[in-house]
Amino acid sequence: MNVLVIGNGGREHTIVWKLAQSSKVEKIYCAPGNGGTAGLATNVEIPVSDFAALAQFVKEEGIDVTIVGPEDPLLAGIVDFFEARNLPIFGPSSQAAKIEGSKSFAKSLMKHYNIPTAAYESFMDYPSALAYVREQGAPIVIKADGLAAGKGVVVAQTLEEAEQALHQIMEENAFGQAGSRVVVEECMFGEELTLLAFVDGETVKPMITSQDHKAVFDGDKGPNTGGMGTYAPVPHMSAELVDQVVKTIVEPMAKAMVQEGIPFKGILYTGLMITSEGPKVVEFNARFGDPETQVVLPLLETDLLDIVLATINGELDSIDVQWKQGSAVCVIMAAPGYPGDYPKGAEILGLGKVDEMNAVVFHAGTKQKDNAIVTNGGRVLGVTAIGTTFVEAQKKAYENVEKVSFEGAHYRKDIGDKALKHV
Ligand code: AMP
Ligand code: GLY
Repeated sequence: MNVLVIGNGGREHTIVWKLAQSSKVEKIYCAPGNGGTAGLATNVEIPVSDFAALAQFVKEEGIDVTIVGPEDPLLAGIVDFFEARNLPIFGPSSQAAKIEGSKSFAKSLMKHYNIPTAAYESFMDYPSALAYVREQGAPIVIKADGLAAGKGVVVAQTLEEAEQALHQIMEENAFGQAGSRVVVEECMFGEELTLLAFVDGETVKPMITSQDHKAVFDGDKGPNTGGMGTYAPVPHMSAELVDQVVKTIVEPMAKAMVQEGIPFKGILYTGLMITSEGPKVVEFNARFGDPETQVVLPLLETDLLDIVLATINGELDSIDVQWKQGSAVCVIMAAPGYPGDYPKGAEILGLGKVDEMNAVVFHAGTKQKDNAIVTNGGRVLGVTAIGTTFVEAQKKAYENVEKVSFEGAHYRKDIGDKALKHV
């Protein structure tokens, strides 16, 4: 079969890498792809927003199935566009992707169907939002309703911080339209983790747990990023706890969406906080996580293409999703300045020195230039290592990170340290 993967991040490189291991996959295309996907797939220079050109390409090249990585094309309706033309595609419809695209929509569904999450109110006018925040007091969480590239959330420790965030989002329009509505949430406390799941309507097949590191610096200091590193599975999350999450959160959410007439098909990303009252939802996303995918897919035993096709055909219940033993750790190397402004075009050295038996480099912001691979984004690449134990995976990840370099590269030195005390 021929497959098209849409997107250009580390997540998409990982999806391409996993598909390349399937005996059923003949040709892989990636639109637009990056310097890493170029080695395994044919990169196609079509923007992810140009649905007509993508559909045309799929027809011309005889592509059997398209897999969508990022949220933007999902929300903009790429799945609806392809399905209307009878082109098989993996991902949720635009309506279903709203669980990521509108926080108030996701929260109201959770409230209606009794899915555990932080208490909240949503507001479209500033004075009422301000009055509510003053009544609740700090700590409190202020969120722009729409997509804001992970930057539209402020966990305010003081009332002053909360009022400032509210003013920026609602009065200064810091996030444009995404901030015309805000969600004000109770502040939860506890450890965070991600549970990804394949969902084809009502059937849910959970993946292994993973944990992201969002802050840019060691010890969770500094501003939030798209994610600086991950590990999987999370050793301190028992099978019972995962089962509880599936039974009280993921399955009820899938069922709720069917009942609402917007069945979810694709990857349901549940961001969780393990509070003293049990697991609660921080957020839902409508796609694979980045960089969670870089540690989850390398441990997937089952053929990814089989799961993708079964999901599209509503036959997920017939698939036995199997996982490999062992652990994976991914350390992201970022460009100087990231998550703020950063330069591009620095040559990446040492890629050939990475120990391919134990580690793999998933490219994110890279591109091929002449005979070199150069930086082309904020999160440049991720080094994932697999080990029979967590400690081994972490050690190998850092050994291999040290072999790769580019000017001004920075990375966290403590990815996975939170798990160490549990292994
Ligand atoms: P979100 O984009 O909704 O995932 O929020 C980004 C980050 O803000 C999360 O990963 C949490 O660390 C934090 N956060 C979001 N909502 C809450 C909450 N209700 N209580 C505490 N922290 C939160
Ligand atoms: N790593 C966080 C996300 O993909 O949303």
